[in-house]
Order: sequence, then structure tokens, then C-alpha cells
Amino acid sequence: MTERKVDFLVVGSGIAGLSFALKAAEKGKVLIVTKSNEDESNTKYAQGGVAAVVDKADSFEKHIQDTEIAGAGLCDPKVVANVVREAPERIEELITYGTNFDKASSGLYDLAKEGGHSEHRILHYKDITGFEIERALLAQVHAHPNIELITHYFAIDLITQHHLGTFVDRQSTDITCYGIYALHTETHQVDRILSKVTVMATGGAGHIYASTTNPTIATGDGIAMVYRAKGKLRNMEFIQFHPTSLYNPAEYPAFLVSEAVRGFGGILKRVNGEPFMEEYDPRGSLAPRDIVARAIDSEMKKSGLDYVYLDVRHRSKEDILAHFPNIYAKCLSIGIDMCQDYIPVTPAAHYQCGGIWVDEYGRSSIQHLYACGECASTGLHGANRLASNSLLEAVVYAHRIAEDAIASIATISFQEAIPAWDDTNTSLQNEDILVTHNLRETQKFMSDYVGIVRSDFRLERALRRLKLIHDETESFYKQTKLSVPLCELRNVIQSAYIVIKSAQSRKESRGLHYTTDYPELSNNLADTLL
Ligand code: FAD
Ligand code: SIN
Repeated sequence: MTERKVDFLVVGSGIAGLSFALKAAEKGKVLIVTKSNEDESNTKYAQGGVAAVVDKADSFEKHIQDTEIAGAGLCDPKVVANVVREAPERIEELITYGTNFDKASSGLYDLAKEGGHSEHRILHYKDITGFEIERALLAQVHAHPNIELITHYFAIDLITQHHLGTFVDRQSTDITCYGIYALHTETHQVDRILSKVTVMATGGAGHIYASTTNPTIATGDGIAMVYRAKGKLRNMEFIQFHPTSLYNPAEYPAFLVSEAVRGFGGILKRVNGEPFMEEYDPRGSLAPRDIVARAIDSEMKKSGLDYVYLDVRHRSKEDILAHFPNIYAKCLSIGIDMCQDYIPVTPAAHYQCGGIWVDEYGRSSIQHLYACGECASTGLHGANRLASNSLLEAVVYAHRIAEDAIASIATISFQEAIPAWDDTNTSLQNEDILVTHNLRETQKFMSDYVGIVRSDFRLERALRRLKLIHDETESFYKQTKLSVPLCELRNVIQSAYIVIKSAQSRKESRGLHYTTDYPELSNNLADTLL
């Protein structure tokens, strides 16, 4: 076992982790650990772009209002105002780092529009904005002498007083993070990484569901680690289902057909060619995502089919290719020419609106632990995230966290005497099938019972099944040498548990949480805290 010491430890190499690292590295040594290839992240697959007020016709007030309308009463107004107002400066920084955003022939940014936005305000690079941002940030990280990035290094657990033999309960206010235990997936060794400050930037949990737009890294690891360390989580019932993933049962994860396609004029249609969204919302195909996803779900239940159609054939081939070359190529690869054919689409789990509770500087309820990006709950998204506000939130909070962490680092010392990882009485087992079966089963009942439309009965049913799988997996975990699939399964199970418990405690329908037992909004505007 190796022990490492570092001022700033970052878990995750998506937009949140990389953006923070670049700032913190100006004042100290930064170590980034990431469990897969360096660029594998939700960030890499982001298509639509980053929302920010850069056009004269737009205003901060409109972006604030759109964010709050989408958030269905649960956004924190102070957080929304901070993020929206700080956006232009952070976008400038991304550009300075080398990110390209498309420009129109006028020389001004080519701003796209997505669901719930009252103006064109989405900066994008073709339909591969996330890929472009990740590329630019990684190039900067590699060039920085103060940053070390280690791939295939899996964060297992936070180190807290608990590992020094002190009991901590969920009410404790002084839980402190001293670093992490991490599994090197090539050497199978578990190392101790001690840090003064740790930033959780592990992204989302799309893989608690059977159908998701997220790459396979999105297994809720950060959420589960903080839950095990008894940190505070907020609003985990609000899982955003993107209305339009490409319907292709042979493919997992699902490929996204960006909302920008609807912003570009794409219309959702029944299989007989009738548009249907106006029957659900006057904003039609560009209504906020929760509304569109529920409408599609209802249409699919009526037709008995697993998809509806998206029609963009009225736009010219030249325009389609200029804006959506990646989506066009993907559709064509499965025999759909979006210039001539309808695109079959279906909702898929896409984004986790809740997460690790953080304050306005990104500080979690655990001392010296920050959370940034999709794993964090800042209060920006409320009950439903406005499209393209996620990349934005990550860069704004990376900046805020860096300022706060740099200001406090001199007052923090390393915790010595952290015990080595204890794997006595465990052995290597050849039971991978248990892991894959339990994962698939969990994903299946989460999709069936904890999806777009929920009920008390469905949630209870999911919880009963989860308990069986949980007990079996925990018992296996205690006897087995660690592997990434096993750790991820535990994290999926624990994240699923948190989503179900949060959903059970919300006795109303709001934003992304819709339950047939409480179909109305309640007057009680409250966050769900676990
Ligand atoms: P991620 O980018 O997911 O990075 C998480 C990192 O943590 C990864 O490097 C991962 O390997 C690592 N990690 C996880 N667990 C561990 C562990 N245990 N140990 C070590 N490392 C770990 N948002 C927008 O604003 N605009 C868009 O256009 C947009 N389009 C999207 C399209 C798709 C298909 C998807 C899936 C999402 C999209 N989103 C979009 C959402 C947005 O991309 C994500 O919310 C955002 O990129 C999250 O960034 P992040 O840095 O928090 O997490
Ligand atoms: C998309 O391009 O539709 C995704 C945008 C987002 O999730 O914010």
C-alpha cells in the first residue's frame, strides 16, 4: 500500500474537476484521480452547449426567470442569480483555455435555443460541445507543472474520523475529510491519499437506470461515498429524463438526440405523423424537459410503442449537417437519414438534479470536502434543471471552490496515523455474474418503478427488491477482494436507495418528481434532505 499526500485532491476529470484543478494549481500541488480514461465523463458527451447571457437581446433577468420557472419553485434565488451573473466571465475563461464555440457569419456567437429558454443563449461547438471543452481543459491540465492526473484510479471511500476509530453519527457537525482510499485498477492495490482539501467531482448516477444517456462511469460513486461518510444530500428524487434519446434497443448507453434539434425546429410527432406536444403545453416541443418527457411517456403508453418520432426534415440538409454532424452520422449509421426520415426517440435517464448538499462556496457538510458539478446540489436546478445550465454550474462553482479552498489551505494540516485499508478475511472470487445480475436487476426495477411516473406502490415495490439485492451484495463485499464492478454496484444500490427514499418523502408532484398518489403541487416548498 502506498500513501500519498497532496494539498488539493480532486476526484474526477470532467469539467468540474479539471476546471477546479487549473485554478487551485496556481497556489499548490493538485492530484486528480479518475477511474477510467482521462476524458471519459458525462462532460465528453455533452452536445447542446453552455447557457450564458452574451446576446444584446438577452438579459440576466430572463435567464434567471427561465431557470426558476424550470426549477418549479425549488431553486435557490441567490444561487441562480450568482450563477447567471458570473456566467459570461467563466465562459471567457473557457475560451482563454482554448475552447472553440461556433460563430455565425456575422462574427457573433451562433447561439442555440433549448427547452425552457426564452432566448437563444446556448454557446456550442457543433453538436459536440462537451468533447471540445474536455479537450481544451485536458490540454491545459497536461501543460500545468503543479497538476498530476492519474487514470484508472478508483476512489472507494472518504477517510474521516470513522477510520481513526471515532464514532460519527448523521447528526455530527464536525465530520472531517482527511482524503480517500483509492483502488489502482491495474495493480489492484488500495492506497491512502491524504489531502488538505478534497473536491468530489464524480458526476451523476445515470446507471441506476436501465436506459440512460450517461456513459458507464456514471454510477453515483460520489453520492454513495458521501452518504457512507454521513454527509448531507439534497433533492435526490429529481432525476431528469431527457425526452429524446435515439431509440435503438441494441445500444447501451443510449445516444442523445440533442434538445438543440428541437430548438432548431424539430417537432415531436406520433407514429402516424401528428404533432402532439401542443396538446400538453403551449410551448410545444420546446417545453421544459419534465413536461416533454411525461408527454412522450403518456403517448408511448397510449400507442404501446417504445418511441415517438422527431421530425426535422423541413430544414435543409446543409443546415442540418452544419449544426448536427455527429447526430446525423450516428442516425445514418443505423439507417436513419434525418434529412429524409423521422428519428425514433424515447426518454432516458440523463441528469441528477440533486446531490451532495453544498453551500454557496461549494462546501459540503463534511469539513474540508467540497463537491462540484453534477454530483453537487447547489440549489441552482431546484426540481428540474434548465437545459445547458449544468456545464455552466460546474465552471462557476469550480471558481468559487478554488477561491474558498485557496484561502483556507494554510490553516489545514494533514491527518497522520490513517490506518491502511483492511481487507483481512477477503478473497478473490469468481462470481462476476452476481455483480452483473444484481446491477441489471436494480437498473430494471428502477426504470420500471422509479422512473418518469411514480406511485407509493411502485416505490415500495422497488425498495423491497433493492433491500434483497443490497443485503446479498453487502455480504459478498465483506468476503471479497475489491474490484471496480463490485464497488460500482454498491454505489448504484446506495444511490438508488437514496433516490427511492427521497421520492417517498415527497408527498406532491413537482418538477421531475411525478407521483399518481399526489398529482398536485403542495404549498409547502421544501427541499428533501437526507
Ligand atoms: P463528469 O463529466 O461526469 O465527470 C465525472 C468524473 O468523475 C469522470 O472523470 C469519472 O470517471 C470520475 N469518477 C466517477 N467516479 C469516480 C471514482 N469513484 N473514482 C475516480 N473517479 C471517478 N449539460 C449541459 O450543460 N449542456 C449540454 O449540452 C449537456 N449535454 C449532455 C449530453 C449528454 C449525453 C450527457 C450524458 C450529459 C449532458 N449534459 C449537458 C450534462 C453535463 O454533461 C454533465 O452534467 C456535466 O458534464 C457533469 O460534469 P462533471 O464534471 O460534474 O462530471
Ligand atoms: C442536449 O443537448 O439536449 C443536452 C443539454 C443538457 O442536458 O443540458
